[in-house]
Amino acid sequence: MNIFASPAEAAAACATEIVARLLEAVARDGRATLAISGGNSPKSMFQRIAVLEMPWDKIHIFWVDERAVPKEDPQSNYRMARESLIRPAGIPDENVHRIHGELEPAEAARKYAEDLRAFFGDGIPKFDIVHRGMGADAHTASLFPGEPLIADRSGIAAPVYVQKLKQWRITLLPAPLLAAKHAVVLAAGADKAEALRAVFSETFDPLRWPAQLGAKEALWYVDSGAAALI
Ligand code: 6PG
Repeated sequence: MNIFASPAEAAAACATEIVARLLEAVARDGRATLAISGGNSPKSMFQRIAVLEMPWDKIHIFWVDERAVPKEDPQSNYRMARESLIRPAGIPDENVHRIHGELEPAEAARKYAEDLRAFFGDGIPKFDIVHRGMGADAHTASLFPGEPLIADRSGIAAPVYVQKLKQWRITLLPAPLLAAKHAVVLAAGADKAEALRAVFSETFDPLRWPAQLGAKEALWYVDSGAAALI
């Protein structure tokens, strides 16, 4: 658990880890794959990464989850990443593998799984690095507490209806999240303190605390507010 005085410092350290893993993958394999999350926390981290000299022509961007909205919708995770990372970094369009949130959710999930199979081949996609966040309710990706798909270990992506948000989302399922070569979780803010405590102190029960999925294998980057109960 890497604890920093501020959200900005946690984001900067998380950015450094993501960049290191991407460069390592490009050096080893000639390409790198990164799956990113949305929400508010990652924006400043993406902006930090976007200004670095990187072999962006060899780096492929995927999403951990997406809201079932068109790509120009303010809620779109793709839109946030396009503004804070993709456009500023000049990542080639062909390296950007978005979830088509404008489609009917089941179709969007099917298409995303198809796109992942086309890129990674059959089986569970193995990203070089997956970036996740965590909500105040310990959700991660768009796997919210009580979501039965948290028990799924064979699927790749699925539509999920988030009751509390009255919103459809498309999310990676646990298998690709757990299969990642490396995983980072960026979580900041005092509102995350109880969730972080539960994830690391309560018995393993990802149906109740979804961010417990792969928690021990991931590198966590949190600020002092989120770590207040650790
Ligand atoms: C999303 C994200 C989600 C996010 C958490 C934390 O689509 O909202 O992928 O899983 O990581 O909700 O969001 P914040 O970082 O904004 O608190």
